[in-house]
Amino acid sequence: MNMEERTFVAIKPDAVKRGLMGKIISRFEDKGFKIIAMKLHQVTIEQASAHYAEHKDKPFYGRLISYITSGPILAMVVKGYSAVSCVRHIVGATDPDKADIGSIRADYGQVTQYNVIHASDSIESAERETKIYFDESELCD
Ligand code: PPS
Repeated sequence: MNMEERTFVAIKPDAVKRGLMGKIISRFEDKGFKIIAMKLHQVTIEQASAHYAEHKDKPFYGRLISYITSGPILAMVVKGYSAVSCVRHIVGATDPDKADIGSIRADYGQVTQYNVIHASDSIESAERETKIYFDESELCD
């Protein structure tokens, strides 16, 4: 059964710099999701390391940390039915070249390193990542 869930989404620095925030936010609003928290935020090295801790042994880890701290992100908490899987579907596959046509990464990204947006992959990740960027009092739930 579909349940209301919260998920964490971050529009990454390249997309913020390219002026894509409005178009990307609209994808979630058009689907009927509620945005219950949002902030433009310069990610610190500490936050980036916590966020991507599971990837610290991957060859691309250094590039990932440099990229996410290279300029402000737009961090959001999105709420709705099956939000984790549905938002991931709207976002598309990690590699924009493999993402479904019509997904955010297919429409606005070219390469995995600069793939426009992050979305949590489970309810547990969403809770953990939300806590890295927001205090509970910032959520308008
Ligand atoms: S993995 O290896 O399957 O666990 O990795 P994946 O889930 O596909 O990706 C995890 C995050 O790392 C980013 N990534 C990369 N960044 C730079 N260069 C390369 N080659 C690369 N491969 C993966 C990817 O965009 C994921 O970031 P988020 O923010 O979670 O989308």
